[in-house]
Amino acid sequence: MAIGGIATTFTRMMGIRYPIVGAPMFLVSSPRLVAAVSNAGGLGSIPTLNYKTGEALKEGLAEIGRLTDRPYAVNIIVNKANRRRDEDAKICLDAGVPVFITSLGSPRDLIAKAHANGCKVFCDVVDLPYAKKVEDLGADGVVAVGAGAGGHAGRIVPQVLVPHLKENLTIPVLAAGGIADGRGMLSALALGADGVYMGTRFIASTEAEVAGAYKDAVLRCAPEDVVYTARLTGTHANFIGTPYIKKLGTELTWLERVLYTHRWTKKWAKGFRVWSVSRHMRSSAQKDGEARVWKDIWSAGQTAALVHEVLPASVIIERIVAEYGRALSSLPHAECPPE
Ligand SMILES: Cc1cc2nc3c(=O)[nH]c(=O)nc-3n(C[C@H](O)[C@H](O)[C@H](O)COP(=O)(O)O)c2cc1C
Repeated sequence: MAIGGIATTFTRMMGIRYPIVGAPMFLVSSPRLVAAVSNAGGLGSIPTLNYKTGEALKEGLAEIGRLTDRPYAVNIIVNKANRRRDEDAKICLDAGVPVFITSLGSPRDLIAKAHANGCKVFCDVVDLPYAKKVEDLGADGVVAVGAGAGGHAGRIVPQVLVPHLKENLTIPVLAAGGIADGRGMLSALALGADGVYMGTRFIASTEAEVAGAYKDAVLRCAPEDVVYTARLTGTHANFIGTPYIKKLGTELTWLERVLYTHRWTKKWAKGFRVWSVSRHMRSSAQKDGEARVWKDIWSAGQTAALVHEVLPASVIIERIVAEYGRALSSLPHAECPPE
């Protein structure tokens, strides 16, 4: 039986058919991927930092506008290390971006500006205190980034984080981390999530404009191969355990700990680290070749273990929706005792 839509508070707020967000991914999301997810009934998204300049960002947004008339989202890192934060926000507001997703910092200014323009703002959170803060600032929803998620990830497992946030917030909660198929979506909605937020699954999509070696590494990756480390950017994130990542290890050195926490050095030390790691990640994401595999940095979540094929984003979404229907109807029914 074909499923024409799955309605939640989130789908109604966005005017979309399915509660599926193609999560923003540094160097992986492309206008084609954003549009494919949105055209298939989900919500596509892209980080502004996928563009090296404001001009390039403007062109990227125009391209998305040519490829889809459906809603989509833009992700802005709102901490001070992102020196393009305000310029990029203005470009997005001028371009009429309908939805913002903030990460790594205070979304206060962006929420005020976005709301003045009639846009919605969802904020990445990894725990309840921060989720409460962004709700008080007026966020329209939160992304509950649980343990195991690709990119920067929290420490609380989604099975606890999602219901914990639902019990204590009034705004919609999207579940991120551990979801790559319809079974995962069913489990997240059963926990009370208003939608699912999936990154890693879409690295292995036709539209993700990254090297074949990166997609292959996702297809080959077992959950045991995923390394959770703060050594790259000073904030914990998940990466495929290439020789380079394994060599780097997971614990910060004492010097990194001092530099990343002291109020005078934090902004510059993290800013420099993020800049140099970003350059390294860019060449890993874009260049193929056996010779370089030892030094590659590829981010992915534990769900890589559930990804077995590179597919067009529209097919990924169709399959998730069909699997959701099958998983829902195959759940064991609670038996009532005889009267
Ligand atoms: C390769 C990669 C890059 C990412 N880049 C960003 C980013 O630039 N901004 C952001 O807010 N989240 C980023 N994330 C996190 C995703 O938006 C999302 O939270 C995560 O992918 C969900 O977990 P999953 O990968 O297990 O589906 C990234 C994730 C991956 C895998």
